[in-house]
Amino acid sequence: MIEFQDAFQNKVPNITFNDVSFSWPGKNKLILNNCSFSINKSGLWMIVGKNGSGKSTMLKLINGLLNPSNGVINNRANVGMVFQNPDHQILMPNCRSELLLNINQKISRKEISKRIDIALNKVGLAGFDKRPIHTLSGGQKQRLTIACSLISNKNFVLMDEPTALLDRSCQLKVLEIIKDLTNNKKKPFTAMWITHRLEELSYADGVAEMKNGYLSDWKNPLNFQYN
Ligand SMILES: Nc1ncnc2c1ncn2[C@@H]1O[C@H](COP(=O)(O)OP(=O)(O)OP(=O)(O)O)[C@@H](O)[C@H]1O
Ligand SMILES: [Mg+2]
Repeated sequence: MIEFQDAFQNKVPNITFNDVSFSWPGKNKLILNNCSFSINKSGLWMIVGKNGSGKSTMLKLINGLLNPSNGVINNRANVGMVFQNPDHQILMPNCRSELLLNINQKISRKEISKRIDIALNKVGLAGFDKRPIHTLSGGQKQRLTIACSLISNKNFVLMDEPTALLDRSCQLKVLEIIKDLTNNKKKPFTAMWITHRLEELSYADGVAEMKNGYLSDWKNPLNFQYN
């Protein structure tokens, strides 16, 4: 499994939905209804859509937590997830142990410490390795969960309203960290970012709307209209 995942780590991720439909067990309503799209370029891809339109359900289909009722999902990426609320994700008592939990390779202690320093540095948490989780602010916890996806070599990270709990300055910090990562041509990195905060869309390489069970075409944020 580890070898399989690592096969994608330095590649441009490729996710394709072909006519994917999904309904919850025992329910008739199709949450996704012949939804087709693909992402085959690294970048920051943002999704908007009304409450209950199926955005979070789609992320769960991408990372395999749910299976489609119909259609085909092709997933050639090393997928990680950053949940809206970091408290639902963080398991360990301090930053270092949380990061250690996410290292999926057998490497030396020295290499582990080096990678922890690099991951914390990338999200603006340099020197935080021994910090207990309960001393972190909401934004710092959110950045730690991003560091966890980086240290586990994910190249396609699903972010479900990652800034919903953050104040304006933290929101911008997290957005800029992700934007920088997706601009790194040497190590292709892709984020699929769900948001209700429309001021974030200008950072996107493409924006799409989830509506009536499917995703619209990707649009340049300058040409994107949402009512
Ligand atoms: N575990 C579940 N069992 C049954 N129905 C569910 C489950 N989770 C979500 N749903 C339903 O699926 C539909 C889509 O929900 P989803 O969470 O994907 O929407 P969303 O677009 O992410 O909404 P929001 O913007 O509020 O986060 C909703 O009608 C919701 O009630
Ligand atoms: Mg949701």
